[in-house]
Parts: sequence; C-alpha cells; structure tokens
Amino acid sequence: MSPYLDASAWQESWDRQQEAFLPDREERFTAMLDIVEAVAGPAPRVLDLAGGTGSISLRTLRRFPRGTTTLVDIDPVLLTIARASLDDRTAIVTTDLRDPAWTGALPHDGYDAVLSATALHWLDEDRLAALYGEIAHVLRPGGVVINADHMPDEGLPGLSKTLRDRARERRNARYAAGAATSWPGWWDLVSRDEVLAAPYAERKKIFSSTEHHDWTPPATWHEAVLREAGFTEVGLAWRGGTDAAVVAVR
Ligand SMILES: C[S@@+](CC[C@H](N)C(=O)[O-])C[C@H]1O[C@@H](n2cnc3c(N)ncnc32)[C@H](O)[C@@H]1O
Repeated sequence: MSPYLDASAWQESWDRQQEAFLPDREERFTAMLDIVEAVAGPAPRVLDLAGGTGSISLRTLRRFPRGTTTLVDIDPVLLTIARASLDDRTAIVTTDLRDPAWTGALPHDGYDAVLSATALHWLDEDRLAALYGEIAHVLRPGGVVINADHMPDEGLPGLSKTLRDRARERRNARYAAGAATSWPGWWDLVSRDEVLAAPYAERKKIFSSTEHHDWTPPATWHEAVLREAGFTEVGLAWRGGTDAAVVAVR
C-alpha cells in the first residue's frame, strides 16, 4: 500500500500544538472572519498569508462555502498538509514573503481581505513595513488586511511580562501532562511520518540557510506603519493578553 497522509489528524495535532501558545486562537479567527463577512458578504476572496497548513483557509471556507482563498507559504511540510486538506476553492502558492516579488506569484489581485495569523513576526522590521505596502496593492478599495500576532500593549510593559511568564508556565504544564505537543515535539513527529519525511528534509534546507527573526513590536507600531502605507482606517480588531489583531481598510 502506498504511504497515506491522514490530513485531518495532522490538522488536529497542529491546532492542539498552536493552541498551547494561543488558548483563544479560535476566538481570534472568528473575530477576523466577522470582519471579512462585514466587508465582503457571503462569498469573500481571501488571501491567507503565510497560511501554513491552511488554518485560515479551512475556517474561511467552512463559514463561507461560496468563498475562495489563496494560500501563500514557503514551508514544504505545512503546504503538503494544506494540499491534502483543501479543495479547488483554494489556490496554493509556494513563495517567500521576504522576496518583494511575491505578489507576482498570486493568481489574482483585488482581494477582499488579506489575513495572517502568528506568522509575520518571522520577518524583520524593514521587510514587514514594506510588506504592508505590497498588501495594499493586492486589495480592492475597501478591502481589509488583518494581522494577528504577538503585539503587546506598550503601555503595559510590566504586566505584559507577567502575562507572558504565566502563559509559559501554563504551556509547560500542558506539555508535561501530555495535553499538547511542543513545537520541537511536533516537528519530531513530522520527521518520522512516511509521507512528510521528504518535505521535512526539504524544509530543513530552506530554514537552516536563513535566519529566523522573532520581531514582535507593539500594536501601535503596526498601526503607524499601516497608516503610512496609505490605509484609510486602522485600528485593533481584537486583543487577548499580549496578542492582538490589527485591521486596516484600504
Ligand atoms: C506559526 S505558523 C502559522 C500558520 C497559520 N497562519 C496558523 O495560524 O495556523 C507561521 C507560518 O509562517 C510561514 N512563514 C514564515 N516565514 C515565511 C516566509 N518568509 N514566507 C512565507 N511564509 C513564511 C511558516 O512557513 C508558517 O507556515
């Protein structure tokens, strides 16, 4: 029998692993999709930026069966899981968001919404600022970008540290109890899967040759850069602890 990838099992384990970092992850996705529905109605065209396994695309299409998504990412493992999970309403594009030419690989422009979650902190300051400008060019007028990530409130430096420490303790307790898989533990499972082992080897080449940034400025930084990029309305769509989602209207 040829090797078989149980995509729904991998989606489930990815979700548990991510929820260890973000206990209110589903609430945050819902807040993002509430905005998409308000600006685009029941058949939105969504760009799922650095979408990984397709968490945002899957939730978008479950909620809006007549919608379409484009999923952009660089990781061969996560994209293998995404391809096995999504149907032809999603176009999957392998591209590196560090390259300003990434928009040339998109199958459309004029998106209603560009959504990203827990991903853009991998880019450095200059690249993320430029990316916000590039996103404006692929949105239709009135379309929105929503970026959810670690974005502490700069008025609360001490409390933010305490919240982060507490979140780490809770996460470690869940790992110790076997309630969730850690980030390295999840990748170890991937490396031992007969279908994912080959894309995992490819991934190691992509990520070993590059520096992994972890740049997490406050929400006010994102808001200021989005205003500078020409977005007409900019603000917070959601906040939970030291994470937030900024939204901007083109
Ligand atoms: C923690 S995952 C989040 C995935 C998804 N949004 C979710 O919430 O499940 C971060 C994603 O960013 C992607 N990523 C990081 N750097 C990237 C780059 N330079 N170009 C494209 N994707 C990138 C990773 O491959 C990964 O899929």
